[in-house]
Amino acid sequence: MTPNGADLAPIGLGIAGLGMAGAVMVHAAAAHPGYVLKAGADPHPGPREAFARDHNARAYADVTELVADPEVQAVYIATPHQFHAPHAKLAAEHGKHIILEKPMALTLADCDAIIAAVERHKVHLVVGHTHAFDPNVRLMRDIIARGELGRLGLINSFNYTNFLYRPRRPEELDTSKGGGILFNQVPHQIDTARLLAGGVVKSVRALASVLDPSRPTEGSCAALLQFDGGAAASLVYSGYDHFDTDEWHFGIGERGSPKPIAHGAARRSLASAKDETKARTETFAYGNTAGALPQHQPHFGITIVTCANGDMRASADGVTIYGREGLRDIPIPRGGSMPGRREVLDDLAAAIRTGKRPVHDGRWGKATVEVALAILRSSREGREVMLEHQVAVDGSPG
Ligand SMILES: NC(=O)c1ccc[n+]([C@@H]2O[C@H](COP(=O)([O-])OP(=O)(O)OC[C@H]3O[C@@H](n4cnc5c(N)ncnc54)[C@H](O)[C@@H]3O)[C@@H](O)[C@H]2O)c1
Repeated sequence: MTPNGADLAPIGLGIAGLGMAGAVMVHAAAAHPGYVLKAGADPHPGPREAFARDHNARAYADVTELVADPEVQAVYIATPHQFHAPHAKLAAEHGKHIILEKPMALTLADCDAIIAAVERHKVHLVVGHTHAFDPNVRLMRDIIARGELGRLGLINSFNYTNFLYRPRRPEELDTSKGGGILFNQVPHQIDTARLLAGGVVKSVRALASVLDPSRPTEGSCAALLQFDGGAAASLVYSGYDHFDTDEWHFGIGERGSPKPIAHGAARRSLASAKDETKARTETFAYGNTAGALPQHQPHFGITIVTCANGDMRASADGVTIYGREGLRDIPIPRGGSMPGRREVLDDLAAAIRTGKRPVHDGRWGKATVEVALAILRSSREGREVMLEHQVAVDGSPG
């Protein structure tokens, strides 16, 4: 059997939520030999009809119908944050394997309920996509694990985007409902830093800011994570549509395609939108977004890793090593599917076919949520927060 099970009958996949993330995963799954798209669900008819037509698949208005579809063996859940827990439990109860978008849930209690449902119904769960699945992050993780650059000391991840000024639904601007960067964006950085540093965060000190009262949720944040083993991670994010880190990443966008840098453009475009919620629904829905495979590797801002004998950076097409002998590029073949999402699909296929535990299982996803909640708490309470639910890459408790 090939690692992604391409030589076996493909896994029937259902997509819950045909919005921005759903559309990207549809394209990734369509290009993946281990899966066949069977059905999708979304309350909006536009993306439903486009999906059914493009993939000769069934499209439902409700997730309850999707999980009852006998040809659907696995469900990718990319519905809004508040639905992650109920939809994941529903899928598990119907015996469907699950890929669940980040954040796994909004509370640790909901994470526990998902983990219990997955165990009770004996299905597999991968919490993703996050940028920890990106091939360049996995390569840096391997280099660290093999000790090639000596002891890991520091991970520096910083990302400046237009996140807060893309059209948003009201709950996406309300932290208590899972809105803002701490639930939506920073989990990418947490997950990546955890994978690189072995998984177990000991403590968090952070300051997050709400800089625009008209978008009253956290839009910028600086967090210092202390890892078991002594490494530190500095995570900085700003979504205020001023500086754009992609300017420093070769003019390439998050998913790996060339991108025109247009500072302030999202803010100006939003100012002219008459109905923000309608714009949110229509702009990124399946059918309105292009599905071209990217020319370069995906990335999330700038990630620089410092070890005793050198630094590493996720580059446009792989990893660049800045060692004692000078600079060295390690290219990563792009392959025929969508890097990052392909690895998510691979991990679920391996779990279903061979029982191999995915690194990003329920306990891993819960540990990332714990760090996100600790960032919020540290910022609000002005103190360091100690963590209690961490797990290592090998699944052992922290
Ligand atoms: N991993 C990534 O890189 C990435 C990128 C974008 C979004 N996301 C995640 O994906 C999820 C969705 O975000 P998005 O940006 O695609 O949002 P979106 O609003 O573009 O898409 C969500 C879709 O879910 C649909 N929906 C709403 N309620 C539903 C319900 N009850 N049942 C079925 N469908 C329902 C909406 O109509 C919409 O089409 C979030 O968890 C977000 O954090 C992840």
